[in-house]
Amino acid sequence: MKILVINGPNLNMLGKRDKKYYGTLTLNDINKEIKNRANKNTKLKFFQSNEEGKLVTFVQKHLNYDAIIINGGAYTHTSIALHDALELFKGIIVEVHLSNILEREDYRKIDYIKPLAKICFMGKKENSYYEALSYLQNT
Ligand code: DQA
Repeated sequence: MKILVINGPNLNMLGKRDKKYYGTLTLNDINKEIKNRANKNTKLKFFQSNEEGKLVTFVQKHLNYDAIIINGGAYTHTSIALHDALELFKGIIVEVHLSNILEREDYRKIDYIKPLAKICFMGKKENSYYEALSYLQNT
């Protein structure tokens, strides 16, 4: 199984962001742990960008992958462009958030990725990512 792990804006700043929502690990720590937990036959590709267009282009160039684990960061709530790129993807999309976006500000309740995602793991800090991986490896 070939899996993309995509992170949107400000997720490169994990470790420095509000610990209450995002925990203490860096994105590098989380990605390392995802690698550790992956099955031998799982191929992972990691990508993070603060730029909407770069996220769109990355998705467009990797449509042959089997699954995407995505934390769109703030673009989750704003980006029709990212939604439309993900709509081209025929594999499984798993949405992830460190915090519980449903229990925060109202503007975080708008979610353009949700209609395309098979499932969403949220509110469990870094464990949201690990649960997404384990979901994919058990389906
Ligand atoms: C986030 C939640 C978003 O609302 C926020 O803009 C982020 C991170 C999360 O993982 O909890 O940057 O996607």
